[in-house]
Amino acid sequence: MAEWVKLCGAAEAPRAGEVMETEALGVAICLANVDGRLCALGNVCPHRQGPLGGGWIEGEAVLCPWHAWAFDVTTGEAAAPEKGKVDVFPVRVEGEDVLVEIEKPEPRGLLE
Ligand code: FES
Repeated sequence: MAEWVKLCGAAEAPRAGEVMETEALGVAICLANVDGRLCALGNVCPHRQGPLGGGWIEGEAVLCPWHAWAFDVTTGEAAAPEKGKVDVFPVRVEGEDVLVEIEKPEPRGLLE
């Protein structure tokens, strides 16, 4: 089940044109500010696991810092000719907090 959880304080969020790495519920997340709009993507690049939050923004995409694959911030799809996708998470600002809607991990049983 998905729930809204705090990703960071609004004051810590990236400014327009910036990206950062963060995490929620153990999931690594790239938080990007595209022209004032906060976007949350999975932080791990499907190419060779580069950290998207260490990359940069071009247009409507976050570019991976390792080999510059470009991921659309709305769909999470890599720009052609590359093939790959990262998760995209809904984001909202509530008071002093930036919240992300994310799937809560299933509780593990004692016998696992
Ligand atoms: S690891 Fe991201 S483009 Fe290669």
